[in-house]
Amino acid sequence: MPSLTNPYTPGQVPRVFAGRAAELRRVEDLLARVVAFGELGGPLLVFHAPRGIGKTSLLRTAQRRAEALGFVVAWTACSRQRPVLPEIVASLRTALERADVLPSGGGWRERLDRVSVEVGIPGARVGATLATGEGGARRPDLGQAPIAALESLLHDTAALVRERGGAGLLVLLDELHTALPDDMATLLNALQYLDGARETNPLAVVGAGLPVTPEALTRAATFGERSTYVALDVLDDADARAVLTAPAADAEVRWSDAALGAVLAEAHGHPYLLQLMGSSTWDAADPQPGDLLGVADVRRGVPEARRQLQAMHRARWGSATPTEQAFLHAMAATGLDNVTRAAIAAGMGRDSRSISAPRERLIEKGVIEPVGHGLVRFTLPGFGAFVRALDD
Ligand SMILES: Nc1ncnc2c1ncn2[C@@H]1O[C@H](COP(=O)(O)OP(=O)(O)OP(=O)(O)O)[C@@H](O)[C@H]1O
Ligand SMILES: [Mg+2]
Repeated sequence: MPSLTNPYTPGQVPRVFAGRAAELRRVEDLLARVVAFGELGGPLLVFHAPRGIGKTSLLRTAQRRAEALGFVVAWTACSRQRPVLPEIVASLRTALERADVLPSGGGWRERLDRVSVEVGIPGARVGATLATGEGGARRPDLGQAPIAALESLLHDTAALVRERGGAGLLVLLDELHTALPDDMATLLNALQYLDGARETNPLAVVGAGLPVTPEALTRAATFGERSTYVALDVLDDADARAVLTAPAADAEVRWSDAALGAVLAEAHGHPYLLQLMGSSTWDAADPQPGDLLGVADVRRGVPEARRQLQAMHRARWGSATPTEQAFLHAMAATGLDNVTRAAIAAGMGRDSRSISAPRERLIEKGVIEPVGHGLVRFTLPGFGAFVRALDD
């Protein structure tokens, strides 16, 4: 019999999205308000979590739900390589074209071109600086232009969708932490103005980024703190089980309790690891419909999963500067899950105040995360052991 296709998706949007009921409810509440009242769904909603915890998957699921409700969805993956605001304009254009709601007359296409240029000009900087309240000066027209352009474009786009019988507009912004502060400030300002006339703006904006995102947004504009921030954690036991069992069940393959237990104990609720081990177990077993995946299959899959994980570890290590590597080294050397600033400083032979810069950068990169009281930990299981093994 031919092999069944492996249904697991390490590193990609999952075939079956498991759990996250509370988080999806947050998005659905926003959408429901847009649908029911044709008004702004609420403040910017931002999910934040380290790499591999499921931010993109959550946004993609939100996208599907919104589309089923009749929303037009504009998706932007922010990046340090490109200015974000013109990307948002481009994503609005794509969304409108795909939904076939872009009127042929009325100069919409020219307008999108014009706004794209307006939000890309350096004038955005002036507006952003002043909007944070520094100096209390009035904003000159130059700085206002990008904010006003984005605000009215979002307003007109959402209104157009609604006019054409759609539910409204959903703007999704992935990797939001990579946006430049000026771009964040322009976006937050535009949303603030839209909120001022909320009943005429049938739209919702949802973002996702690494754990630095809330701080970065608040730094970009003081009222960034009015956004709603939701931290994504690792999956609980029931959801973690579902990540493994649901895709297999679609192919009429089951997991033994012992095999499930073995993977759960390794993955600690980390969605990427669950997908990775699900995938390697599947390949080792090469199951047919009706088969049961057992502990032996898990064990035979482990070397391949380990190889993949090592590649991830290596990529993270390789993207760290020498100072950051020294930091990671000192952290790993303690052998502890949660490490104090003092222990790291001591390991680096430095003063504990002087390690702030590499600490911040590593948090920004999503390699480590703060766990309160100045303690930090690695975000990817097994990373400490990987760093320790570099010495051997
Ligand atoms: N709720 C879920 N159900 C099933 N699989 C999931 C779920 N959430 C995440 N995953 C899986 O976990 C992996 C990581 O998910 P995702 O890419 O969404 O994470 P991320 O937080 O966006 O990571 P990054 O910061 O690297 O972009 C993917 O393989 C995805 O298939
Ligand atoms: Mg992602």
